[in-house]
Amino acid sequence: MISKPTIQKIIEEARVEDVVGEFVTLKKRGANLLGLCPFHNEKTPSFNVNPARNIYKCFGCGKAGGPLQFLMDYQQLTYPDALRYLAKKYNIEIEETRDETDQKEQIEKQNLTESIYIANAYAQKFFTGYMFNNEAGAVGLAYFKERGFLDKTIEKFQLGYAPDGGDVLTKKMLKEGYQLDILKKAGLTSPKEGSTYDFFRNRVMFPIHNMTGKVVAYGGRIMVKDEKAPKYVNTAESEVYQKSKILYGGFFAKNEIRKKDECLMVEGYTDVISLHQSGIENAVSSSGTSLTVEQIRLIKRMTPNITMLYDGDAAGIKAALRGTDLILEEGMNVRIVVLPSPEDPDSYVKKVGTDAFQKYIQENKKDLILFKTSLFAAEAKTDPIKKAELIRDIVDSIAKIPDTIQRSVYVKESSQLFDMSEQILITEVNKARRKKQGEQHKEEEKQQQREEVKKDELTAAAHKQEVFENPTNLPVLEHDIIRILLEFGSWKTQGEENEIPVVQYVLDELEGSDVETPKYKVIYELIKKEFADGRVHDEAFFTANDDEQVRNLAIDILTQPYTLSDNWWIKYKVAVAEKKDRFVKDIHSTIIRFKQFRNIAELRKVEKLIKDAKDDGELFKLIKLHKLLIEQKKEFARTIGNVIYRPAT
Ligand code: CTP
Ligand code: MN
Repeated sequence: MISKPTIQKIIEEARVEDVVGEFVTLKKRGANLLGLCPFHNEKTPSFNVNPARNIYKCFGCGKAGGPLQFLMDYQQLTYPDALRYLAKKYNIEIEETRDETDQKEQIEKQNLTESIYIANAYAQKFFTGYMFNNEAGAVGLAYFKERGFLDKTIEKFQLGYAPDGGDVLTKKMLKEGYQLDILKKAGLTSPKEGSTYDFFRNRVMFPIHNMTGKVVAYGGRIMVKDEKAPKYVNTAESEVYQKSKILYGGFFAKNEIRKKDECLMVEGYTDVISLHQSGIENAVSSSGTSLTVEQIRLIKRMTPNITMLYDGDAAGIKAALRGTDLILEEGMNVRIVVLPSPEDPDSYVKKVGTDAFQKYIQENKKDLILFKTSLFAAEAKTDPIKKAELIRDIVDSIAKIPDTIQRSVYVKESSQLFDMSEQILITEVNKARRKKQGEQHKEEEKQQQREEVKKDELTAAAHKQEVFENPTNLPVLEHDIIRILLEFGSWKTQGEENEIPVVQYVLDELEGSDVETPKYKVIYELIKKEFADGRVHDEAFFTANDDEQVRNLAIDILTQPYTLSDNWWIKYKVAVAEKKDRFVKDIHSTIIRFKQFRNIAELRKVEKLIKDAKDDGELFKLIKLHKLLIEQKKEFARTIGNVIYRPAT
């Protein structure tokens, strides 16, 4: 468990621009940095990094947070892993605590995944050891040798053999102190209740690693042809294994994929291993299923170029086509190579050797259009309906490419291939794009409209005194109250004899009147509670808060380009540039406007009571109160006038 002071130090040291900058290209824009959002697909950058506040926010999809949050969201790291990552980056020594309650909590949380990793690692060593050292395991080794796998390949991929005994592994691990529950969750023991049967029996074992090299699952292959038994048995999905998010071989291939700027996609475990053994180390596999978006995004972090290698049989090609549109949608380049039937990458590289294999790929690599065309060319030539279908299909694929230039290249290419006017194809592609984006677009437009309306409302509010008479503007005022609390709460009041934190000043001024808008209330109550416990925080406490609701709202408020008081300042040409210059007036005017709103609400209430009053005594009291409120109202108006019209000093 990482100690509190270490966590504090890491949070203080970590810079959002450094951390985000590792993964996203950022360009300077004023005081901020701007880039393409890594959380959603976009062409114009709306991902904003604010180094002064140490936060990022995407104005397109709304994702927001600080350095830690970015690592957890984008790299899918756990909280402690993200902390460790940052500690390493900033050379901060990690101090571990032995605090028992902390540790217990931590252990409970992390135990399950950690235990599964540990169990899987143990099993891997067991399977490999059994194969090399146990007489009964020799069949496994013989099988791999027969397929041409060298010792160093077997060791690198940590291949092994699962014994036939029934419960050899489970029994051994139970004796070592592993819990049956964990063995089942890891998928090493049969999931049937009460069973202590090994899940893998008499199979050669292919461990499946995640991107950091930890074993998360296994594929077990039968060694003899058997019509009744499946060729491969695979670990079911678990805490640590989601099939759609794993690339087999990814851990071993990642450096080479970056270096070659290309990822080779093959179908199976043995294809990956054979290619790596032949020195082609940028190959990964999706383990027999068609590529998922998550897998494509994993690759996208390393290269935009995917080359899919497929067996010459029809089934393989259909599968290839299914994955390709997803790749296009991610804005990546996809090329396809079909191997001469009946070869697969494993058999073909063994047959012709590394150089000839690579040459074959280079010479037969086709982009999607060429590939689809050549695949159906023969049919399309003689059959106009087939031809129209093919064109339709290709138009749909082109429409999915986000990049305009790339789309036009494909349009040109297809117009030549099909001997068709470019203009017709462009029209068709645009039609398909409109259709596809229709829904998405509508949603975006609506959102934009909503924002426009909000902006207008705020501007109008700033220009009209009536704002204070309109109860629907309470949220706007409360927004500003929260904003000054976040922005200045930990600052000290100026010019008073005993300086106090602004948070105290504001809370005193509000005299216990509550914030009503539910979303602002959450943060307001938190501030109140923290202050009551003697804690005063700066904005980082909120923008890096564990509570997602608090965090997002704080970032939202602090990054919102339009706030009521800002507009006041702009309208009356009062300098807004420096926070510290507007600090006093900002707080002052916000509080007064809030009080003024309350005053008017109170006035309306009293006026209504006066109208309904039955008793003279009561009426008299109410009229006195009304007079007082009117005096206050005038006073507020005067003060606001002063605050606003007085130029900045
Ligand atoms: N697969 C599976 N279950 C099966 C068959 C296949 O999980 N019953 C998955 C495996 O991940 C396998 C991939 O699909 O690696 C491709 O299948 P195949 O080409 O049949 O397997 P290879 O890895 O090529 O194995 P081999 O060369 O031993 O036939
Ligand atoms: Mn094969």
